[in-house]
Amino acid sequence: MDPKYEPLFRPWKVGNVEIKNRVVMLPMEGTNMIQWEAKTGFVKGIGEFYRDRKDNNIGLFIPGLIPLISIVGKKWVYKHPEVFEPVKPIVKQIHDSGAKIFFQLSAGSGRSMLLPPILRPFVKKGVLKALASPVLSTKWWWSAPDPEEPNVWDPEVKMDHFTEEMIRKFIYAFGQTALRCKEAGVDGVEIHAVHEGYLLDQFAMPYTNHRQDDYGGSLENRLRFACEIVKEIKSVCGQDFPVSLRYSVRSMTRGFNQGAVPGEEFTEVGRTMEESERAIRILEQAGYDMFNCDNGTYDAWYWAHPPVYAPLNMNLSDVEHIKKFTTKPVVCAGRMQPEAAAASIAAGRIDAMGIGRQLLCDPAFITKLRQDRLDEIRPCISCHGACLPFNGLNGKGTDLDPMHLEMGRCVLNPWTNNETKYSKAPATHPKRIAVVGGGIGGMETAIQAALRGHKVTLYEKTGRLGGVFNAAAAMSFKEKDKELLEWYRRTLAKSGAEVKLNTEIRDLSALDADAVVIAAGAHARTLRVPGAERAITATAFLNGEAEVGDRVVIIGGGLTGCEIAYELALRGKHPAVVEMTEHLVGARGICMANSTMLRELLRFHKVPAYLSAACERITADSVVLKTPEGEKTVPADSVILSVGYVPDAQFAALKEKKNRPKTGPAVYFVGDCDRVGSLKTVIKQAYELVQKLSYQP
Ligand SMILES: Cc1cc2nc3c(=O)[nH]c(=O)nc-3n(C[C@H](O)[C@H](O)[C@H](O)COP(=O)(O)O)c2cc1C
Repeated sequence: MDPKYEPLFRPWKVGNVEIKNRVVMLPMEGTNMIQWEAKTGFVKGIGEFYRDRKDNNIGLFIPGLIPLISIVGKKWVYKHPEVFEPVKPIVKQIHDSGAKIFFQLSAGSGRSMLLPPILRPFVKKGVLKALASPVLSTKWWWSAPDPEEPNVWDPEVKMDHFTEEMIRKFIYAFGQTALRCKEAGVDGVEIHAVHEGYLLDQFAMPYTNHRQDDYGGSLENRLRFACEIVKEIKSVCGQDFPVSLRYSVRSMTRGFNQGAVPGEEFTEVGRTMEESERAIRILEQAGYDMFNCDNGTYDAWYWAHPPVYAPLNMNLSDVEHIKKFTTKPVVCAGRMQPEAAAASIAAGRIDAMGIGRQLLCDPAFITKLRQDRLDEIRPCISCHGACLPFNGLNGKGTDLDPMHLEMGRCVLNPWTNNETKYSKAPATHPKRIAVVGGGIGGMETAIQAALRGHKVTLYEKTGRLGGVFNAAAAMSFKEKDKELLEWYRRTLAKSGAEVKLNTEIRDLSALDADAVVIAAGAHARTLRVPGAERAITATAFLNGEAEVGDRVVIIGGGLTGCEIAYELALRGKHPAVVEMTEHLVGARGICMANSTMLRELLRFHKVPAYLSAACERITADSVVLKTPEGEKTVPADSVILSVGYVPDAQFAALKEKKNRPKTGPAVYFVGDCDRVGSLKTVIKQAYELVQKLSYQP
């Protein structure tokens, strides 16, 4: 192991609990061990999730939050000790591997409650609230410190009032639930959360707490609920039972659904650093033994859920600062990189490194680090595409915001949290597989197939693997995407698959294979408007095939168009974005943290956006738009089209079964050449196709 990582492997203590190293697996919903809605009180396959991680050099596990009360059935966890039974063997296995585990207990979301869009009209009309019945515990879930508080995801939904009686019931429930955890062998609990704008944080912050009772007003009052919780747990479970607090050092919030970006001067409406210095002392005095820290609220969500635009280690300096105001251990989260964490630990500026998504992406991350196998680490690209795919559109719209039932999965590693659905066993039906196209879809197919024992040959018509992802990864802030491409190239080279570059396949019948997988990708769509020939495509720009002038109009305000605008702003240019719909970055499945950070960055860099606007024509020095207010001319030295992709047409006829030859290899399509999608759909499709080819005749 490189000695610079050594500080990560020093033991430390939380209360009396000794932890073998400084690596904490952060809580991620989808990894929690107690899931009320599951029949058994236990998430299917969660044992396998921990099996893959428990021997991989993680010191402390904190599974995703456990609500104290279920939405359906109004069941309090502490009244149902049976739900802890299936958890006990997993806890034991974790202990046997030398690691420790804390359970995160949640007071709830308050105004941050994510309501499935399908339910929102009923909540707005008061139907669901009136249904607060033996069936639905709506009162608990749709209550916030202030009555009539607008919901973050949809401001038209107003919250109920979290009463003092409810506070008392919750404090009692926290004590009893912590006791059940202790009895199940769990080493400690973490309270969720004076963090990220969840319920306890709403109590703690002035802009979401205007109460006149003992729980509002002074800082001491605003922290009273969080303090009473730890006191209750200590009195029930004993003073030496460790209690951690999930804690946001600063809120980084400008207002309702308005976040600040790194480096911005702004007026904080939530917790300032000054107040945080006092707050952490009060919380320590109340009894908290550890602070699991980062920044942000749901209004500035990207601080707690940093996307690709967030600097690596983005919360580290604030967490290092707050450690000076407490004697208790402090964990830092948010795109933490081992090198920076190790240096900070060695200097005594933080106590441990929190890692979340990187462990969804590569369970053996720390083991590979420790064994000098850095080349094998599949890097997390902070896309949130399968772990947190909710696009809230900054509270302005909800129709595009489906309640994806899937979370805690991983775009890059479909195995995660699908361990009981897929197999990694050698193929029962090994085949000769030809893969046509060396983009992500082709490489993923080839790697998975080779791993399962198929004989694979991949044909790429250019001299470079990566396909359209080369363009996507080209932007300056996409260092992890570039690492991912390198990881794919290396892993493919080692996989045993044969790779033939500069080899264009025109005739499938010439391939000596049992199955042919076409992963030929897509090409950029163009616009049919006068002057369109003056514009360049997004891929041409990103691949460096064309220069742009100072004033650049980007047509298409989806993810790629907005990322290009941000990239141009970083290069000192003057971009403007034109979007047909009412929203920038409005597509389904893009996490709100990613879309809001990108929008806030464009605001910060003063990039104009023309919404509900269509490009009518492109002239020598402008773009003429049709907008709801009439025709508008936007000056432009260059125009970039970012209006999507169309599937590669070669072999398209073969998509229809009737056009396929009766004899010869079976033909399959993967990725954008089948249907233009995202990294998530491409990788999942490739992965699932190999499952099918491996275990079906
Ligand atoms: C899918 C998902 C679920 C999460 N659920 C929780 C949670 O239950 N409790 C919590 O405190 N934080 C939760 N978080 C935040 C993470 O604990 C962590 O702080 C965040 O992912 C940033 O760390 P990372 O950059 O290492 O992923 C969640 C994050 C993700 C991606």
